[in-house]
Amino acid sequence: MSEAVTETRHAIGLLLGTENDWPTAFETLVRRLGPVTDGAGTSHRYDVERVTIEPFDLRQHPSYDLVIDRLAYWYYHPREWLKKVALMDGVYLMNSPFTFQAMEKHAAYCAMMRLGLKVPETVLVPYKNPLDNAKYAFTAARYNAPFDLDAVAEKIGYPLFMKPYDGGAWRGVSRIRDKAELHRAYDESGEMLMHLQASVEGYDVFARSLSIGAETMVMKFDPDQPMHGRYSVNHDFLSPEVGDEVVTIGRVVNAFFRWEFNSCETLVKSHQGGSDVHPIDYANACPDVAITSLHYYFPWAMKALVKWSVFCTATGRPATPHVAPGPWFDVADRDDLSYEERLAAYRTMADDYFETDRYGDFCASRLAHVDETALTYFEGADFDRLLVDTVTSTFPPHEHEQFVAHYRGLLALWCSDERTRLSAATA
Ligand SMILES: Nc1ncnc2c1ncn2[C@@H]1O[C@H](COP(=O)(O)OP(=O)(O)O)[C@@H](O)[C@H]1O
Ligand SMILES: [Mg+2]
Repeated sequence: MSEAVTETRHAIGLLLGTENDWPTAFETLVRRLGPVTDGAGTSHRYDVERVTIEPFDLRQHPSYDLVIDRLAYWYYHPREWLKKVALMDGVYLMNSPFTFQAMEKHAAYCAMMRLGLKVPETVLVPYKNPLDNAKYAFTAARYNAPFDLDAVAEKIGYPLFMKPYDGGAWRGVSRIRDKAELHRAYDESGEMLMHLQASVEGYDVFARSLSIGAETMVMKFDPDQPMHGRYSVNHDFLSPEVGDEVVTIGRVVNAFFRWEFNSCETLVKSHQGGSDVHPIDYANACPDVAITSLHYYFPWAMKALVKWSVFCTATGRPATPHVAPGPWFDVADRDDLSYEERLAAYRTMADDYFETDRYGDFCASRLAHVDETALTYFEGADFDRLLVDTVTSTFPPHEHEQFVAHYRGLLALWCSDERTRLSAATA
């Protein structure tokens, strides 16, 4: 007697700007994955749709169960739609715009300092230029306390970084070596609100971790390289302990803020007794997942996006769009804990939030075929066509040949490493 199988359909929405690379890979992978059967025997089928921007009635129900957003950080109509579907329709969002608007870089610095992380010394200075508001002149004359910019900078120490309080894409970031540069940068900041932040000088390594749900990839990053060379393929550039600390910091940031698709930049600097991990930039809504920047790590990112989307929708994981800092601050306020112990406690809370173990079990039992499906796709002609299209639409014609070869090489390396890994797992 065959069991009656219940079937349920889920729509995943992609909110996109200019990119076509990762959405195509994501759509193909979901299609090839086919239905996923959960532990109760329900078969989950998936449709992926690109969300269009149009008038929406605030009471109209969306068709999506989950939306991955790479647009709302600059386009506010869809951002407001995301808020509506989060508040009214329980749509699962990666990420919730509530926390990203309320908790930009500045608030993220505050919260992680409060948790005891080694965020460099940071000061927020008032606007350089008057704001375009009729009340400004009167208010400023009355309440803007005179301040000595040089004294603020000297207290932090040179070199330092001046950067916008809300950050993003290196806009308005400058490294300041002396008084003259300080004044020039502040004069140019105009109506941007700026932090002055101590520079982490002479760091050993820039580790950038990309987290997607319960998974985190820590990558060696070089901000001085052009886009195609910023991430290097390097698996052992951190000791296991430091690697774990970097993963923990990324997960803690994300669990604290309920960010499920985010990148976290940390600078690792050694000293006589070991090394310190300094988080410097970790509020990155809509993180970059382009083939041309992630290259070798692109297949990992696509698999993680697919698996996390399926896990959340198939298990009915509730969306939690708001921050609940209380339990985190309780740990922060315990003075019997060392930095390491505190971090371990946060890590447990973060893994609880992300249901890391349950996710692992779900992937092992319900998504066992995803690795082989993905490898076949990344080795095949459809993906190669996407790679060539992406390169030719990203680079000028005289660089096409060079960069097609460059990215093909890196993706072939991933495929060969993955083939070895899968064979070892089944051996
Ligand atoms: N405190 C710091 N110490 C050393 N380097 C820094 C510091 N802050 C920023 N930088 C450098 O400047 C770059 C841009 O700053 P970041 O805070 O990441 O801004 P954005 O949000 O625009 O990416 C970083 O990737 C890093 O290379
Ligand atoms: Mg950054």
